[in-house]
Amino acid sequence: MNLVALLVVCALATLRTGANQCTDSVCVVDDQSLRFFAIGDFGGEPIWPWYSPVQKDIAEAMEKLGTERNTHFQIGLGDNFYTTGVTDVKDKRWKDTFEDIYVGDALKRPWYVIAGNHDHRGNVRAEVEYTKMSDRWVMPDLNYTIKYQIGQGAEAKLVQFVMFDAILLLGYMPPKKLWLDAAMELIGIKRHDFAYTDQSESQWAWIEQHLQQSTADYLFVMGHYPVYSIGEHGSTQALIDRMIPLLHKYHVTMYMSGHDHSFQHIQLTENDSQGKPYTVDYVVNGVGSRGDHSTEHKAQLPAGALKWNYPTGWDGGIGNLGLTDGGFTYFEINAQLGQLQFLDKAGNEKHSITFSPRK
Ligand SMILES: *[C@@H]1O[C@H](CO)[C@@H](O)[C@H](O)[C@H]1NC(C)=O
Ligand SMILES: *[C@@H]1O[C@H](CO)[C@@H](O)[C@H](O)[C@H]1NC(C)=O
Repeated sequence: MNLVALLVVCALATLRTGANQCTDSVCVVDDQSLRFFAIGDFGGEPIWPWYSPVQKDIAEAMEKLGTERNTHFQIGLGDNFYTTGVTDVKDKRWKDTFEDIYVGDALKRPWYVIAGNHDHRGNVRAEVEYTKMSDRWVMPDLNYTIKYQIGQGAEAKLVQFVMFDAILLLGYMPPKKLWLDAAMELIGIKRHDFAYTDQSESQWAWIEQHLQQSTADYLFVMGHYPVYSIGEHGSTQALIDRMIPLLHKYHVTMYMSGHDHSFQHIQLTENDSQGKPYTVDYVVNGVGSRGDHSTEHKAQLPAGALKWNYPTGWDGGIGNLGLTDGGFTYFEINAQLGQLQFLDKAGNEKHSITFSPRK
């Protein structure tokens, strides 16, 4: 990340949480643990009132838990504005879908955001620009890294997030017109037939460079598209082919995405660079404004890889209206271990997993 971008990230973090001390490369949290939310596909509705009832419930539950736990920040995993992103930094959607929904002091802390396919349908650079106008929206580029240090001295632990742009990486610019997208599906061109561009290779190189150089105790890779998914969109072959080997080679702690509107916990064990088995957690977290019950691509997953998913059962497809299911995740990471809780729209825990520092 360039220096200016880092300074913006850290200045905002300092501004909002007070307790954090940020230099140009890392924010130090003088605390026993790092606590944050991650939420995906929280882009509301493309029609009035521009948010979904589920999204509003989630925002309230986040604010409540954030106040209770004194969280440090939140992460947004893309599809920030349905269905065609924003037009510019003055678009009313900023207020109607984001600013007026995520209210309360706990949610005024930094929002580290990446773009999804729906953001790329609009003016995605305006989402980067908005960083300069907001006191909490942080998107210094389409891709960037964040580092947080827990504690000081010899006991300190480093948590790093590699935030990449899945649309740049996969070289797929979604059609600007929804009818075109629908027409493509109708004639059998799936949404995951990606076409590589020059930007894809530099994005892959950027990801690998950051993983290779990382000294973090907990290392997260976050992008909008899932590697594996049982949901409506299913798995992303290009990520299966090229992302999985990188994650296991560099001992990444967790890969997190949105895109399919469900929670999924998937675990894979693959050889690392020494030929030793290494397990990575894969999490789909796309229930920030609606919940999709689809499991139509379950057969695409390796046997036994799916550990848990939500929501379940038949709902006749109404989940995507944003009136019923949804949720968000809460992380608490300390020197010994990390915990990830999957919470429903009311803040009730549905499932939780723990993970250890990298070796
Ligand atoms: C984002 O990735 C590109 C390569 O695709 C790289 O040139 C650029 O420096 C990255 N941005 C940041 C802030 O690191
Ligand atoms: C992993 O490495 C072992 C040897 O250490 C080898 O027997 C095995 O086939 C490898 N598995 C894969 C999936 O490459």
